[in-house]
Amino acid sequence: MDEEFWQARWRENRTGFHEDRPHEMLLGHFDRLGLSAGDAVFVPLCGKSVDLDWLLDRGLRVTGVEFSRQAVEEVFARLALTPQIRDAGNTICFSAGALQIFVGDFFDLTGSMLRRTDAVYDRAALVALPGHARPGYASRLADLTGAARQLLISLDYDQSQMDGPPFSVPEREIRDLYENGFDVELLSRREIAGPLAQRCDGNEEAWLLDPRSASITA
Ligand SMILES: C[S@@+](CC[C@H](N)C(=O)[O-])C[C@H]1O[C@@H](n2cnc3c(N)ncnc32)[C@H](O)[C@@H]1O
Repeated sequence: MDEEFWQARWRENRTGFHEDRPHEMLLGHFDRLGLSAGDAVFVPLCGKSVDLDWLLDRGLRVTGVEFSRQAVEEVFARLALTPQIRDAGNTICFSAGALQIFVGDFFDLTGSMLRRTDAVYDRAALVALPGHARPGYASRLADLTGAARQLLISLDYDQSQMDGPPFSVPEREIRDLYENGFDVELLSRREIAGPLAQRCDGNEEAWLLDPRSASITA
């Protein structure tokens, strides 16, 4: 999936992944991230998700990254925030108050561009990437965020039922990607619902990725 694939999806309004309400698994499992007001959460491949608004409402500082400038402009407009816009490496950083979103490629972010991160919220980011890109994404994400705790929402279905994205990332792959640095816990699993259920059947899964060093010192 190159950048043009996603830019075309946004231009042509083919954004069936966008949901109008905060994701139920975020609401159900947010507490497991152990965050308090003022903490910072990173939302990779954030689209124009209303989960951003919900996290801001919890008093968190929120950082996202997204290819589509149109999506990012919609987020700031929805929140009635006027962003400051500045160049940041190969990306453009939109920021206002507790929200900042980099318009550009996740893989162009560097650690010095991100503020200290207390947690990562990945909904439909890992599963948006083809298999060959997922190991690089997982290790880059851990590097960028100091191996912060993650709430990961993924999909597991028979990949022969449809082409991704979203791709199926079964439990074995999740464990292979993350178990070297994190304790990996399945929090919940439910049948795929909504428009995606017309294209495949399988499960949506919520995972807690808890950094090993934190577990040892806790
Ligand atoms: C499946 S959508 C999920 C969006 C959002 N997380 C949500 O829950 O609505 C994936 C998003 O990632 C963006 N994207 C894909 N690859 C990216 C990359 N390498 N860097 C930045 N954004 C990317 C796409 O433009 C798209 O908006």
